[in-house]
Amino acid sequence: MAVTERKKLDAQKLRADFPIFEQEINGKPLAYLDSAVTSQKPRQVLEALRTFYETSYANVHRGVYTLSERATAEYEGAREKVARFVNAPSAREVVFLRGATEGLNLVAYAWGLDNLGPGDVVLVTELEHHSNFVPWQYIAQRTGAEFRAIPLDDHGELRLDTLDEIAGSEQVKVVANNLVSNALGTINPVERLSAWAHERGAIMVVDAAQAAPHHPIDVQALGCDFLAFSAHKMCGPTSVGALWGRQEILERMAPFNLGGHMIRAVNLERTTWGQVPAKFEAGTQPIAEAVGFGAAVDYLTGIGLDAIEEYEQELAAQALEALADVPGIKLYGPPPERRAGIVSFNLEGVHPHDVAQVLDMRGVAIRAGHHCCQPLMAKLGVAATNRASFYLYSLPEEVDRLAEGVHEARRLFA
Ligand SMILES: Cc1ncc(COP(=O)(O)O)c(C=O)c1O
Repeated sequence: MAVTERKKLDAQKLRADFPIFEQEINGKPLAYLDSAVTSQKPRQVLEALRTFYETSYANVHRGVYTLSERATAEYEGAREKVARFVNAPSAREVVFLRGATEGLNLVAYAWGLDNLGPGDVVLVTELEHHSNFVPWQYIAQRTGAEFRAIPLDDHGELRLDTLDEIAGSEQVKVVANNLVSNALGTINPVERLSAWAHERGAIMVVDAAQAAPHHPIDVQALGCDFLAFSAHKMCGPTSVGALWGRQEILERMAPFNLGGHMIRAVNLERTTWGQVPAKFEAGTQPIAEAVGFGAAVDYLTGIGLDAIEEYEQELAAQALEALADVPGIKLYGPPPERRAGIVSFNLEGVHPHDVAQVLDMRGVAIRAGHHCCQPLMAKLGVAATNRASFYLYSLPEEVDRLAEGVHEARRLFA
């Protein structure tokens, strides 16, 4: 039997695709360890944007002239790529919008306002980014539904054993959870949550903003009903993202934004809506950005999501081991095999901003803050953490520089 060798990622080679690394920061080679907030862009994506603007740019779905038809074909081609990327049954189930935040707001408003009411329960988790927490909390308050959160254990993993107790005998209508936590890197058991949500007659909404760049996604295997993500975290342009939703639910939903392109007919008495996904794409869309998103999907698919994930887990394991040697360090989150390439920590007696500044002087960029996860910070009993996050262009020697910089911060401040 033929044995197929798994593709290994060559970060040093891939790095050459990213022009940003041709510079020094504070006299040192740039070690960009903040990819969870946004990723850097390869030439392949930058060139796709430039070529589109130079050769095919026009508005889409509006003109009967050749250039507009060409632009429309590229825009719709990008939708097909994004649909394949998440194994969507149909490209019509993919809505382009500004990013994960807008996608999650779309579901909370357009689905939530019509489907939630007193006596219903909206279930999120203590691990959510504000963009999958605040819209649900707000819409629950607007509709009179109960808003509850699944708690975490000491490793930052969801306590699924508490699900039945939290839900009680009430009607859970929606479960909203991230597939990968941006603050701790935890990979969450979305398949199990989806199955539980469906047993209860609820829909399952997945925030895949941190998963899509690093982890193979299959909406059919996850069994969810909606899944949102942003291009800028996965080598693509800013201001574009995708919401995948089950066609039958999207079709029953009211629109979110109203205006041009999303209509079928408008008259003085009433307006009827266009078909999905046009119904959710009012106004001029981020056209070139969507084409760039398609190029980013090609880029990541060419490398292989499995290879990206495996490589990042190696870097995270290396970082956890190296940082564990720093006296007074507190590392948060699950063991490396259940986390993505994200490592959060605090240094006793040292403010996270001071740690990040010492690292910046050494050319190492990390994030310090609450990571838009204030409920999680409250649970951890801190106002902020330091967070290093890795991607396909991160190098093992950058992890060493991270650890050296944290030792230095301790010597200076602790
Ligand atoms: C887990 C998670 N969800 C949602 C978002 C929001 O993404 P965007 O700002 O691209 O809409 C982020 C961004 O950091 C995130 O990490």
